[in-house]
Amino acid sequence: MEPVIVFDRVSKEYPLYHRVTAGLKHFLLDLPGAIRSLRSTRLEVLRDVSFTVQRGESVGIIGRNGAGKSTLLLMIAGVIKPCGGTVTVRERVSPLLELGSGFHPDLSGRENIELNGVLLGLSRRQVLTKQDSIIEFSEIGDYIDQPIRTYSSGMVARLAFSVLVHLDPMILLIDEVLAVGDFAFEKKCLDMMLSFKGSGVTTVLVSHALPQVEQMCDRVIWIEDRSIRCCGAPSEVIAAYIEHSKPTDKP
Ligand SMILES: Nc1ncnc2c1ncn2[C@@H]1O[C@H](COP(=O)(O)OP(=O)(O)OP(=O)(O)O)[C@@H](O)[C@H]1O
Ligand SMILES: [Mg+2]
Repeated sequence: MEPVIVFDRVSKEYPLYHRVTAGLKHFLLDLPGAIRSLRSTRLEVLRDVSFTVQRGESVGIIGRNGAGKSTLLLMIAGVIKPCGGTVTVRERVSPLLELGSGFHPDLSGRENIELNGVLLGLSRRQVLTKQDSIIEFSEIGDYIDQPIRTYSSGMVARLAFSVLVHLDPMILLIDEVLAVGDFAFEKKCLDMMLSFKGSGVTTVLVSHALPQVEQMCDRVIWIEDRSIRCCGAPSEVIAAYIEHSKPTDKP
């Protein structure tokens, strides 16, 4: 067992933004009080969250909209810092956080492959040797020489996923990206991720596509009400989450 991601009592808050409802005059007349109230209102998204991911494990993160799943992933990626506790990540992280967030819209698919490869820490030569397999896997065809802004969102997802999995990931972070690809591509991505299993690649997958999470992951963490509600075998955690999410008959 070799822990590669360790969350130790991690908390995260975001400031809440205000409109000055009582009017600017009131705001200015009681400036210290106004500033105090602005400071005190913060949204607590995660509180004292602790978990460990071992090398080679595939862990799924589930929970309702706004539960804090993407926030958690952003902390693993090092994009945002926790407000309390510590996040330790012992490997190079390849995040696929938002669709094509690493792509430049005016550059072609081909140019973006190079840009992303270099951003992920590879040399230009290394990227070029993989370029053909990236293009082939993405099945984008002649569009590869068109600017990214002309792509459909599914095409962006195909290229983004393809770049990521071909650049020797160590920790793969995937946030709800598979959902926009068509059925065939989704299957291909899942097969690719399954093939990573056993090769030491660690995957953290955030998704509302519960059957895929169940198929892909060794362990699932359900985030609810700022903390880990349940963590364990995928089928059990997902069943508990579905049961909890059922609409009630109460008015
Ligand atoms: N930069 C930010 N500033 C303020 N609030 C934020 C910020 N980012 C996220 N939040 C808030 O934090 C909470 C958790 O957001 P997060 O994006 O982590 O949820 P999520 O579980 O990924 O949801 P979804 O399933 O919809 O993707 C939400 O209430 C959101 O409004
Ligand atoms: Mg999210």
